[in-house]
Amino acid sequence: MSRKRVGILISGRGSNMMSLIEACRKPDFPAEIAVVISNRPEAAGLERAAAAGIKTVAIDHKQFASRVPFEMRLHGSLLDHGVDLVCNAGFMRLLTGGFVDRWRDRQLNIHPSLLPALPGLDTHVRAIDQGVMIHGCTVHFVRLEMDTGPIVAQAATGVMPDDTADTLAARVLAMEHAIYPHALGLVAGGHVRIEHEKAIVSAPVGVPQTLIWPPLLTNH
Ligand code: GRF
Repeated sequence: MSRKRVGILISGRGSNMMSLIEACRKPDFPAEIAVVISNRPEAAGLERAAAAGIKTVAIDHKQFASRVPFEMRLHGSLLDHGVDLVCNAGFMRLLTGGFVDRWRDRQLNIHPSLLPALPGLDTHVRAIDQGVMIHGCTVHFVRLEMDTGPIVAQAATGVMPDDTADTLAARVLAMEHAIYPHALGLVAGGHVRIEHEKAIVSAPVGVPQTLIWPPLLTNH
């Protein structure tokens, strides 16, 4: 089995990155981590990746006059490391069309909401403010418009009346750590194709589960 070589892009603590690194440690996983690249040299995730024995690179976006030369360096580094697939994991830079097109259908992102609901920042605060009952996270292919693109996997949880943005974020983050490796495994294993801008997953699937929230009352 030839494993896909993955480049992970981070900007921060890198907990999703660690979930991908862990998954790739399994000998039968169809991907391996070639490099972790951060646009912030101080990102805690760089140390975590290095401690896990992964090659790391810092490319400080502030050293570049604009996005395009920064992205050319980023692209060059990904090529230098023989990367087949890019996984954005808490990568907080907007990407221009040139970079997005070069990695079209080969770049994934994780977002902490059930897209297309709540794109952008502060998703947990907004979920609570807007009174949504079901919230979650999404892994999707990257397109030019932020937080859009064919959806590969999602996970959902009910929102409790006493949830805060922090309690909700913690619950969603645990789900992120489950679905990102899952989605990467599906894509790297060749089980996902894109048709008419939808991701079609051909791997065997179970029976869809229904989440009703708040739960049905048993005495009605
Ligand atoms: C995650 O919630 C991810 O969905 C979002 O940014 C956060 C990154 O966290 N894009 P981490 O760096 O993976 O811990």
